[in-house]
Amino acid sequence: MKYVFLLTLLMVVAAGGVMGAVVVVRWSDNMTQTPRIVPGERVFTMPAGIVPRGGDLILPKEQRDVAAKQPNPIKASGASVTVGRERFQTFCVPCHGPEAKGGTTGLVATKFIPTPDLTNAELQKQRTDGYWHSYIVAGGAVMPAYGEALASEEAWHIVNYLRALAQR
Ligand code: HEC
Repeated sequence: MKYVFLLTLLMVVAAGGVMGAVVVVRWSDNMTQTPRIVPGERVFTMPAGIVPRGGDLILPKEQRDVAAKQPNPIKASGASVTVGRERFQTFCVPCHGPEAKGGTTGLVATKFIPTPDLTNAELQKQRTDGYWHSYIVAGGAVMPAYGEALASEEAWHIVNYLRALAQR
């Protein structure tokens, strides 16, 4: 009788162990299956009917021509250029170089893709403030989007900084 009891106990414990193992395996497997999206990898479109709280609407890069017509709402004051320079140093220097001269002056650009010279007079003339603002918040062909890292306002400050660079 004693053996029957022990055998039953053993079977119950074994079944519990197997079920526990299944939970553990599925749990850890699910964790590795979860998609990981790094910041700047994608720009998500807002679901329909959602109203953003703060911040401005970010037009996707496919609508760059619309975004290019947006006027710069921020006056290119010394304070604006200072903020722009500070943000540029944080986010843009790795690829565009400390003076926005492009090429391979940025450390990352040597391993990535040489960037255009943003101080180039021809380019400066060709591009509107809105176009560059759109480039910063929505990204380029390979350039990552900074709409999630920077407020729209900060992107305008950077544009003012880039304009100030060319004037020197
Ligand atoms: C990972 C590297 C990388 C970083 C970081 C980066 N860029 Fe770029 N950027 C590029 C490349 C490469 C191009 C060339 C166009 C393309 O392929 O997207 C470019 C193009 C541009 C252009 C468009 C020039 C034109 O009119 O054709 C602007 C403006 C610009 N970058 C500004 C910025 C600013 C401002 C930041 C910081 C917020 C920044 N970039 C950060 C790589 C980068």
